[in-house]
Amino acid sequence: MSDKIIGQPLDRVDGRLKVTGQAQYAAEFNPPNMTYAVIVQSTVPRGSVLRMQTAEAEKAPGVLAVLTPRNAPKLPGVDKFAAVPILPRLTVMQDSEVLYNGQPIALVVADTLERATHAASLVRTFYVDKPAKLDMEAELENGQPAPAQFGPPPGHTRGDAAAALAAAKVRVEATYRTPTEHHNPMEPHASIAVWDDPEHLTVYDANQGVFFTRQFIAGLIGLPQENIRIISRYVGGGFGCKALPWSHLILSIMAAKAVNRPVKLVLSRRQMFTLVGYRPKTLQKVELAADAKGKLTAIRHTGYSETSENDGFNEPFSNISGMLYACPNVTASQQIVRLSTSTPTFMRGPGEAPGTYALESAMDELAYALKMDPLELRRINHADKDPEDGRPWSSKSLLECYRWGAERFGWKKRSLQPRSMRDGDVLIGWGMGTATFPAFRSPASALARVMADGTAVVQCGGSDLGTGAYTVFTQVAAEELKLPAEKVRAEMGDTVLPPGPLAGGSSTTASATPAIRNAAIEARRKLVQLAVADKASPLHGLAEKDVDAEAGRLFSLKDKSRGETYAQLLARQGLPHVEGKADAAPLPEERKYSSHAFGVHFVEVRVDEALGTVRVSRIVSAMGAGRILNPKTARSQIIGGVIFGLGMALTEETLRDPRTGRVMTADLADYHVPVQADVPDIDVHFVDEKDPHVNPMGVKGIGEIGTTGVAAAVANAVFHATGKRVRDLPITLDKLL
Ligand code: MOS
Repeated sequence: MSDKIIGQPLDRVDGRLKVTGQAQYAAEFNPPNMTYAVIVQSTVPRGSVLRMQTAEAEKAPGVLAVLTPRNAPKLPGVDKFAAVPILPRLTVMQDSEVLYNGQPIALVVADTLERATHAASLVRTFYVDKPAKLDMEAELENGQPAPAQFGPPPGHTRGDAAAALAAAKVRVEATYRTPTEHHNPMEPHASIAVWDDPEHLTVYDANQGVFFTRQFIAGLIGLPQENIRIISRYVGGGFGCKALPWSHLILSIMAAKAVNRPVKLVLSRRQMFTLVGYRPKTLQKVELAADAKGKLTAIRHTGYSETSENDGFNEPFSNISGMLYACPNVTASQQIVRLSTSTPTFMRGPGEAPGTYALESAMDELAYALKMDPLELRRINHADKDPEDGRPWSSKSLLECYRWGAERFGWKKRSLQPRSMRDGDVLIGWGMGTATFPAFRSPASALARVMADGTAVVQCGGSDLGTGAYTVFTQVAAEELKLPAEKVRAEMGDTVLPPGPLAGGSSTTASATPAIRNAAIEARRKLVQLAVADKASPLHGLAEKDVDAEAGRLFSLKDKSRGETYAQLLARQGLPHVEGKADAAPLPEERKYSSHAFGVHFVEVRVDEALGTVRVSRIVSAMGAGRILNPKTARSQIIGGVIFGLGMALTEETLRDPRTGRVMTADLADYHVPVQADVPDIDVHFVDEKDPHVNPMGVKGIGEIGTTGVAAAVANAVFHATGKRVRDLPITLDKLL
C-alpha cells in the first residue's frame, strides 16, 4: 500500500500559530504572582569573589532576593554531574571561584524585570584576580586527550599512517583553524520556574528535550523525576545550544524556591554569548598521502579544541577521517585545551562541520597536487563499506549525489587552473565539499488517540526546534490512522506526554516516528475490533483483516459501501476515545550496518579582485538521507543547514578580548550571521534512497548534514577563484588581500 500523506510537501502544521503569535514560547507563559530574575555576571576572566556589596540592591524597590555564592542553596548533584563529560558542570554559585568572564555571580529577583535589572546594576563585587588562560594556541602544550562523550573518545588508528606518509608519492600537509562560533537561535534561552508545592516543580523552558532536561534537573537538585514537569511546546531554534541545560535554568529554580513565587529568567542576546554553550575553536592538522593515481594511502588528522577549565567537552572533528574515504592507514587523534572560558557544547554538525572543513579542504589541496579534478579524487576514494570496521552501509547514495549534483551544477565545464574564470573585475571559482552525518536513533514512546468527534491527537514528548517535527509527526500518525492530516493534532514538548527523544544528533524523526506509526496502527486496530464485535455496526462479524479504513471511515474490503465513520462507532459505543500506545528503540540488527547520510555541495563564488569580497552566487546540494517524509520541510532543513555553513565559511566568529576574556562580539551587529542578501538560491535535491536497515521508517537525519562540507566547498571555490588558500575561517576580505 502506498503512502498518501507521508511524502507530501505538507505546510507546517504549526506555521499559522507561529506567524500569528499564538504559539506560546517558554518566556511567554505568565503564571500568577510572577517575579523576574536577572543574572549578575563576573567582569574578570579568572579569580575568586572576595566580597560582594549587595545591601543597596537588597533595598532597591521591588527586590525580593539577592542570591550570591554566600547564600545560594547548595545543590546535591553538582559534583556527580561533573563526572559525566558531556554534561556541563554548571557554574551556579556553589563556590566563589570565577572561571570565566561572564560567569553568574549573583542573581537578583524583583517584582518587575526593570526593577530586577536596576537592582542587579547595584551589586558591587571585589575579586582576587588569578592568572587567566585566554589564548588556545599559547596553551597547546597543556593539551589533554579528548575524553569520551556519547561514544568512545574521538580518534582512530588503523594501519600505519606514519609509514605510509613517509613513503608517499604525493603528499599534502596543512593546518586549518576554525573560530569560536555561537548558535544564535532567534529565541534566547528562557526559564520560568514554578514550585507548585515544596516537592513539586514545573518549569517552562526553551530546550531541545524535556525529558533529558528533567532528568538533569532531578539529579542536580535531588528531586524525584516524577515530581518535575518540564514544558517546552515551541522552540525558536536550538542548533545544539538548547540540548543541555545551562546555569540560568538551575538559577531560576533556586530563585523560585528562595522567593516562593514563580521566577522568570530570560537571557539577553548578549548573555547568549556567555551563559550557554558555543562551538569551540579548533586547530586541525591534516596530512594526506596518495599514490600517483590519486588513491589515498594515508590520512593523519590531529588537533585541538578549546574547552573550559571545569569541563571536558571536545569538538570531535577527527571522527570523519576514519569513515569518509577508503584508506588503509588512518591516524586521528585530538586534544582539549582548557581555557578561562565558559563551557562549549554541540553546535549543528558538532565534529562533522569543522572536521569536513579541514578534511575536504585538504582533499582539494591533494587534488591540485595530483593535477586531478577534485570530484574525481573523491570518486576514486569512495568507501564502498565502512572503512573503519568493514560493516556494510545501511544505504549510501554518495556517488549518485556526486553525479546528480555535478550534472546540475555543470561541473564538467570547470577549468582546473585557479584564476582561470572571471567576469570583468570579478574572479569566479567553483568548489565542492562532501557532506556526511551519522544516522542516530534513540528510544521513544508515543500515544495516538482517536476522539469521539472523529479527530485524533498524537503525543510524543519530543521537541520541534522549528524543524518541522510537529508536521511529520502529524503526517505519520494521519497516514496510519487513515485520517486527513488536518484532523490530526500533534502534541510535543511536555513531560506529561509519552517520553520522546532529545532533539539532538538529527535523530528526532528516526527516533519518534517508529513509535508514532505503531501507536496509530494500534489505535486503528482497536477501532476495527470494536466495529466487528458490535452487533449494531455494519461491519459486525467481519474478520479484522477484511476491514480497512479511509478518511476516518471503516469499511469492508469486500463491499466498500458497507461501513461507518470512527465518530459513528465511538458515539454508539459511548466511548470518549480509543487509543494506541507504542514504544520504539534501536534494534540490535541495525548495528550490523553502518548508517550515515551523505551528500555534496557544489558552490560558485564571485570574488571582487580589488576588494576581496566573496559573494556566493550558486549552490547545488544533493543529499542521500533515506526516505523523505516531507519534501518541503526537509528542503528547508538543508537550506537552513547550508546557510549555517555559509556563516561558518564567511562571516561568523566569536572574538574574546585577549586581556579580559570578555566576548567582544556579543550581539548580532558584531557577530555576523548571513542575512538574506548573503544567500543565493540554494538548489537542494534528495536522491531517491531506500534504506531497509537503518530503522523501521527508513529515515536518516537531515538537521545537521546540510551544514557539513559547506565551508570547505566555499573555501575550495575561493581558492579556485583566487589561487589563495584560506585555512583560517571565516574567509573575510582581509585574508584575500
Ligand atoms: Mo544538535 S548540535 O546534536 O543539538
